Amino acid sequence: MEAIHITDVAPRDGLQNQPVHLGANDKLRLVQLLAAAGVRSVEATSFVSPKAVPQMADAAELLPLVHAALPALRCSVLVPNLKGLERAHAAGAAEIAVVLSATETMNQRNINMGLEQATEVSERTLAAAQALGLRTRAYVAVAFDCPFEGETPLAEVLRLAQRMQAAGAGEIVIADTIGSASPGMVKERMRVLAEAIAPERLAIHLHDTRGMAVANAWAALEAGIRRFDASVGGIGGCPFAPGAAGNLATEDLVLMAERSGFATGISLDGLLEAIDFAQERLQRPLGGRAIAWLRRQREKTNSSNNTSPETATT
Ligand code: HMG
Ligand code: MG
Repeated sequence: MEAIHITDVAPRDGLQNQPVHLGANDKLRLVQLLAAAGVRSVEATSFVSPKAVPQMADAAELLPLVHAALPALRCSVLVPNLKGLERAHAAGAAEIAVVLSATETMNQRNINMGLEQATEVSERTLAAAQALGLRTRAYVAVAFDCPFEGETPLAEVLRLAQRMQAAGAGEIVIADTIGSASPGMVKERMRVLAEAIAPERLAIHLHDTRGMAVANAWAALEAGIRRFDASVGGIGGCPFAPGAAGNLATEDLVLMAERSGFATGISLDGLLEAIDFAQERLQRPLGGRAIAWLRRQREKTNSSNNTSPETATT
């Protein structure tokens, strides 16, 4: 089976917008459950302004805990500027992600910079991170539609993705911030982008606002994309993008990919453990499209394991 690579962004994208704020030990537990399920790559937190996103204020406390507990886990952190990089480096980060939106207004709302400034700051942050020996990712957000400016021109997404490639970003993550993309759009855009950027450096980050995220992931697979962001339980959303709902759920992506002949290395039972934990801590039901079916499967397996051989034959 051909492998796909999944970065679980629940600890960052998932938790950044939750009304219930988890403490560092609960966040660490969530990452540990993801790793136990076979997830090899996570986005652990973000080094952003604690005034803008109080849910991520404990980034410098959390990251060393994660590194100490799970030294083999690939662990990226989001940084919006050089100050974020400085804080992330001091906390021991090995990989950072910058966030550039493809429209003027989205950059203003998200990181308080215009498009040109955001591009230059992202370039400078990528260069400084590489000089420190860190791995890098670069998000191109609102790559399909912007909540303020409507459909984003593909030429603009391509131009910015190429700027991030030229700046040396190890991975360029094309993001459907408000979950408005459709499979046809994803296939077309990812095909065009994959002609300009090596597919092994291209990833896709999907939100599930309109229930299309799994179909969009399939369209991306068909366009040759093998690197995906997803969030366990489907939690997530950018606080500064009106209408942004949960992410593509990791369990939906794993189920779809494995049933379609792609290996993920991730256990669905393990993901259910992480979802159970997160929903208990966040005090609300979580889970993607397949959650009810996954829970029924687990109950069936548990009840057949609990059935004695005598009972089973009667
Ligand atoms: P600003 O107010 O313009 O910053 O915010 P500033 O440079 O003018 O500095 C103001 C204060 O913030 C100063 O402190 C700085 O030191 C401090 P003061 O002197 O007032 O005490 N500051 C920082 N503190 C901590 N960490 C930093 C940092 N930088 C400056 N890195 C800023 C600009 C970018 C900081 C702010 O707008 C911000 O933090 N925004 C948060 C953005 C965010 O987290 N958005 C959500 C993540 S992106 C997303 O979800 C999309 C994604 O999932 C992909 C997709 O789905 O599309 C990735
Ligand atoms: Mg996102």
